[in-house]
Amino acid sequence: MHIFKFMNKQNRLFSYSRIRRYLSTQVQVDERPLHVPVMVHEVIKYLKPQNKQTIIDMTFGAGGHTQSILDENYDVTIIALDRDQVSHERAIEMAESYPNKIIPLLGKFSELPDLLRSKKIYQNTIDGILFDFGCSSMQFDTANRGFSVSKDGPLDMRMDGDRFPDSFTARDILARGTEDDLGRIFKIYGEEKNYKKIARAIIESRYLFRNLNTTKELCELVDSICEDEVRFDMLNRPAHNATKIFQALRIFVNDELNEINQGMHIASQYLKIGGRLITIAFHSLEDTIVKRHITGHITGNVANALPLKYCDYSMVYQKEFAETFIHKCWHSLTKHVIVPSDGEVKDNPRSRSARLRAAVKIK
Ligand SMILES: C[S@@+](CC[C@H](N)C(=O)[O-])C[C@H]1O[C@@H](n2cnc3c(N)ncnc32)[C@H](O)[C@@H]1O
Repeated sequence: MHIFKFMNKQNRLFSYSRIRRYLSTQVQVDERPLHVPVMVHEVIKYLKPQNKQTIIDMTFGAGGHTQSILDENYDVTIIALDRDQVSHERAIEMAESYPNKIIPLLGKFSELPDLLRSKKIYQNTIDGILFDFGCSSMQFDTANRGFSVSKDGPLDMRMDGDRFPDSFTARDILARGTEDDLGRIFKIYGEEKNYKKIARAIIESRYLFRNLNTTKELCELVDSICEDEVRFDMLNRPAHNATKIFQALRIFVNDELNEINQGMHIASQYLKIGGRLITIAFHSLEDTIVKRHITGHITGNVANALPLKYCDYSMVYQKEFAETFIHKCWHSLTKHVIVPSDGEVKDNPRSRSARLRAAVKIK
């Protein structure tokens, strides 16, 4: 079998035979990079790695950010977490190429404290934490995983379905959810304006025809509802009508927003004072949770779900008084979100919606 090889900046060759073997059972793998990391320059600028530090890459993916940090020749240890078995395999493989530099861990943000305990790594000991939320290109590009509107495959969408084979898939939700449930999922997690009509059509198709089984069937059904619409993405390119529905299902299937809440809380526990947090979000739901943690608008470790006008400020007249009960353990390093340069968006259109925030733990 042909062995896919990838050359990094230092002309080091990696053999991706193991990961390729896995992927080749599911997709036709070509010679493109597995995933192009976004805003690498900005990540390194704000993370400011120093020798002897320990950094957690909470979303290892294809290892693009981890590799960029190590290729800058920092003598750091990177704990490489991912919930996806394919990414974990890649982390193990990359760890062989960077001896004693990478500690691969398989699990979700919410499982991290147990994983760290098993490695005798405790709270307040980490120098930097990076989150690059969402899906990797490896997940999107693998038809069998059901993440993509443009690739026909089973409606799965689980990031860790092989670890939790009994967990529900996107197909299960579409087959079992009530019209109300589906409408709420599409409205809240997809911000889809036609949420009612699409939920209705799914229920009707269930009773009149059969359950939706594939990404193509779901796309066709959504297209039939939004027949007269032409949608565009942030680069003004035509976007598929079902993109938001796919986003909503993926977030729900993987419990992504709860995971981000827990991840942010865990970051505040495990970073040292002075430790740096970098987040890259791809839609407003992710970014709002991050922003509320950084600004201290959280209740019981969970970002307030309500618009802030309904939260503490509206209950009192004085902003100073309200601020005495805001739980703030971060100092933000970025006044506003940082977005990718035009050049980066041109080279890597998937970076177009990336929003980076950076903060330092202060208490
Ligand atoms: C955008 S990709 C990261 C790409 C990576 N930074 C790179 O440069 O290759 C996001 C990754 O986060 C993982 N992920 C998403 N939610 C997670 C969670 N709650 N816990 C652990 N990993 C998660 C996904 O499986 C995916 O591999």
